[in-house]
Amino acid sequence: MKVSVVSPANIAFIKYWGRADHQIFLPRNNNISMTMSGCATTTTVETGNFSSDDVQVKFFEKEYTVLEKDSIKAKNIFDQIERIRDLAKSSQRVRIKSENNFPADAGIASSASSFSALTAALLLAFGLNEKFEDKVELSRQVRLCGSGSAIRSVYGGFVEFLTGHDHETSYAVQIADENYWDLVDLVAVVDPEKKKISSSECHQLADTSPYFETRIKEMQPRIDIVRQAILDRDFRKLGPEIERDSNSLHIVMMTQIPAAFYWAPGTISIMKSIMDWREDDDLQAYFTIDAGANVHVICEKKDAVEVKKRLQNNEYVKWIIENKPCAGTHIISEHLF
Ligand code: PMV
Repeated sequence: MKVSVVSPANIAFIKYWGRADHQIFLPRNNNISMTMSGCATTTTVETGNFSSDDVQVKFFEKEYTVLEKDSIKAKNIFDQIERIRDLAKSSQRVRIKSENNFPADAGIASSASSFSALTAALLLAFGLNEKFEDKVELSRQVRLCGSGSAIRSVYGGFVEFLTGHDHETSYAVQIADENYWDLVDLVAVVDPEKKKISSSECHQLADTSPYFETRIKEMQPRIDIVRQAILDRDFRKLGPEIERDSNSLHIVMMTQIPAAFYWAPGTISIMKSIMDWREDDDLQAYFTIDAGANVHVICEKKDAVEVKKRLQNNEYVKWIIENKPCAGTHIISEHLF
């Protein structure tokens, strides 16, 4: 059996940081995101009587390499294969090829697209189609692979990951689909290299920051405001909350033990410019940054040309990836091998 799926990355407007349960990956707070049309992973999984599992990955502009079990991420991938094989009561092995069309591990949510694509393709290849078709169940299955952001890629458009309190109650729901609001995420790439500290490792350190519990408390009203701003298509309400949440996340990261400092000079340069553009010209753009140096600049479609032009003039910006909301994880008919 051979199947292929495509899954998009997503950008969090309310970030997921820190876990309530490290075994089944329950987040400490509800988090909200938008899917990204310009950043996707394609994955093909074939099941059969092979002698062993073979996983090959191709990162942006690189060649295919065999995945070794040498990182938390790789371990999570092999654990997910094992778990889904057990779920299907199968003894078949897998051949997997997976490729990204954007830089991985650079704060552009590559684990979101790759883990959601992998989980969906595994479920289908092992014949667990009902678990793929039921999106709530698919999101639970994706959560178990260890990347919290990945569960938000299951649906198109705007998505909320509900913390819940156990496996059954922790899953993702769609707030609005990809055609609801034409927001744009311009990713200003200032550093495409792999980050030194992975977010998987860093989640476990969140509560070593004295500001973590403060963040959890202060963000509760923000979650409701962001959800409502999306439903009302109210960008002047949404934008400031996106920025506040990103700043609050980075304060926690920077004060963890050991500290995780992801910003580069280009990150700060863009953040400051965006604030100036708003103040001087009322240009409505807002920044948000994940676990990496690259800056996601969110604006409405009507302002995207102007914002992009200004970003291109920033000396640190190497290139820009343009995204709009798009469909979530879906099956495709062309295979990678
Ligand atoms: O999906 P993870 O476990 O790699 O965590 C994602 C963390 C952030 O990207 C920083 C925030 C988010 O919600 O996407």
